Amino acid sequence: MTNKNKTVWSGRIKTPVSKSFQRIGASINVDKRLYEQDIYASKIHTQMLIKKKIIPTKEGQKILKGLDKIKGQIKKGKFIFKEKYEDIHLNIEKKLFEIIGNSAGYMHTARSRNDQVVTDFKLWVKNSSLILIKELNFLMKNIVNKADKNVGTVMPGFTHLKNAQPVSFAHYLLAYYEMLKRDKKRFQTNMELINESPLGAAALSGTSYNIDRNFTSKRLGFKKPTRNSIDTVSDRDFAIDFLYACAVCAMHLSRMAEDFIILNSDAYQLISFNDRMLTGSSIMPQKKNPDPAELIRGRTGINYGKLNSMLTIMKGLPISYFKDLQDDKALVFDGFDTLKDTLTMSNELIKNVNPNKTRMFDMAKTGYTTATDFADYLVRDKKISFREAYNISSKIVNYAEKNKKNLDELTLNEIKKFYKNLNKDVLKIFNVKNSMNSKNSYGGTSERNVKNMLKKYKKELR
Ligand code: ARG
Repeated sequence: MTNKNKTVWSGRIKTPVSKSFQRIGASINVDKRLYEQDIYASKIHTQMLIKKKIIPTKEGQKILKGLDKIKGQIKKGKFIFKEKYEDIHLNIEKKLFEIIGNSAGYMHTARSRNDQVVTDFKLWVKNSSLILIKELNFLMKNIVNKADKNVGTVMPGFTHLKNAQPVSFAHYLLAYYEMLKRDKKRFQTNMELINESPLGAAALSGTSYNIDRNFTSKRLGFKKPTRNSIDTVSDRDFAIDFLYACAVCAMHLSRMAEDFIILNSDAYQLISFNDRMLTGSSIMPQKKNPDPAELIRGRTGINYGKLNSMLTIMKGLPISYFKDLQDDKALVFDGFDTLKDTLTMSNELIKNVNPNKTRMFDMAKTGYTTATDFADYLVRDKKISFREAYNISSKIVNYAEKNKKNLDELTLNEIKKFYKNLNKDVLKIFNVKNSMNSKNSYGGTSERNVKNMLKKYKKELR
């Protein structure tokens, strides 16, 4: 039967594949990461074959024991993966022959590597999505913790990187909480689509054996079996969905990192990092560089690249299985590893960031950030139209700029040059904290709102 050193197909293909292709075409160094899923799925497949009396119970039992033994060997690092057996599936099958002899030959009844690999891969992506969701939860918690301490910390909110309006540092941080919550949701939603069991599609057409796909589906933790065998072995949507979810999440973290890099720059100095998050320069003794933040930003490129590669591999690929698909795993594994590291770094970064509160407050006052508040005051108090009030306020800004003053440094008499009927109450309007706390609309930056949101978030995270 199957000779130890020969390929499964040596009866048909007489000479071994070229040495160079053996190396290039083997996926074992990548897909050995699927060993647990592969053994698990093979065991459930074998149990089904026994239950349906497709293989003799005695042979099936031997297979189950052999598979456990192999798992133990791999776990202990005692399993030697061989390139000449191409991939994880054939490496395990070969080893099974070594351990239990020809009984191993019963295992591959009513399946193909084509449905086997998608099954393993889907199980892996499901599990890895859960790992990323957990990491996202940590990060969201850390953001909430940092925000909790900074509800009353006023900073300038920017649009176009120009000072726009005063906001709470907590509110700013919690913007990222919302993005990450959507990222989490994306991974969760993907679970729905991934939740169909491929096992039993065999090569592409299904099988003539009386298999029980509901049994294997249920035991593997899927909701139901896939409905079309050809689609089943061709489909890698789930890998694309996963890589897309990774890419979007990386993009959000990249924006946060970029924000921090700017706010930490010598020009802004609005935040600083603890030394744990900084590296020095080999030549400039004074330097403290935010390398982790830069890597978070940079590696987003890797996540985009993996998604792009996967989409391109799929485009124009005829139905159903082709070897092209084998490279899906390296892309998904790399995408996962990269994002996981990025999440770890982001967690560290959030824990080690400190707002420079005085500077934030001072900068929140510069750039006439309460000009809108003054216009709103005129609308509310003097019942004039917003556009008229806006024009009056811009004249005051021009005046303040010319006289090199912040808006809160103007006297009542100076302001009255632009609108007569005012008393000293108006001066409160230019206070940045008052401005922040006046933004009481749902989702706005007032301390009251932010505190309410924090309560919600804490509940959500429990
Ligand atoms: N290692 C292969 C992969 O990852 C398994 C499927 C091989 N199927 C085949 N018909 N060559 O795609």
